[in-house]
Amino acid sequence: MIIAVDGPTASGKGTIASAIAAHFGLPHLDTGLLYRAVGRQVQLAGADPDNSGDALAAADFPDSLLSDPELRSEAIGGLASRVSIHPEVRAALLERQRAFARQESGAVLDGRDIGTVICPDAEVKLFVTASLDARTDRRFAEMQAQGRDITRAEVREQIERRDERDMNRKDAPLKPASDAFVLDTTALDKTASITAAIEVVENARGGP
Ligand code: DC
Repeated sequence: MIIAVDGPTASGKGTIASAIAAHFGLPHLDTGLLYRAVGRQVQLAGADPDNSGDALAAADFPDSLLSDPELRSEAIGGLASRVSIHPEVRAALLERQRAFARQESGAVLDGRDIGTVICPDAEVKLFVTASLDARTDRRFAEMQAQGRDITRAEVREQIERRDERDMNRKDAPLKPASDAFVLDTTALDKTASITAAIEVVENARGGP
């Protein structure tokens, strides 16, 4: 069984994807991490994320980069979003994601284009979303807990900028697949979101 989980930044899709993977005993790939590694490699090389040649060269990053703690930062998230615009970069990362999905065990992949491009035949497609305000509140609370010096307005602007870029790029823009189940978590806490997502998967498989 392949489960595709897509959605915008700070929607909770990553948390939901790992909870689903743990619940059903499936391996999980956070595909955003691959784009983040490309962004980080561009940064380390002092290259230009908006230049397709520079970004493509960075797509050949060493596997060791995937455990770099810097990948989780908002700065690298922004660079990941910029390099992900280039079709060449998306093509370079495609086979790696499909190979993960082909595992005999099945798999959970989360990202922006899993249900639309990477695994269009996935048995279950979830599109996790939440209002801009709810996503801002969550991300802001997370950053405050880390002691980061940032205002709520700045966080909101970062999220809006990322949405804008991810939804309006020409190649594989962020959007729900026509057969995706849209899970709006605006009014749900973490536990309720996970419970709802597991229910969607169970219904799609024809019962628990
Ligand atoms: O999910 P994330 O914040 O780690 O993703 C970082 C960026 O990578 C995101 O803003 C756009 C890009 N991305 C993508 O284009 N396609 C994916 N499947 C996953 C991420």
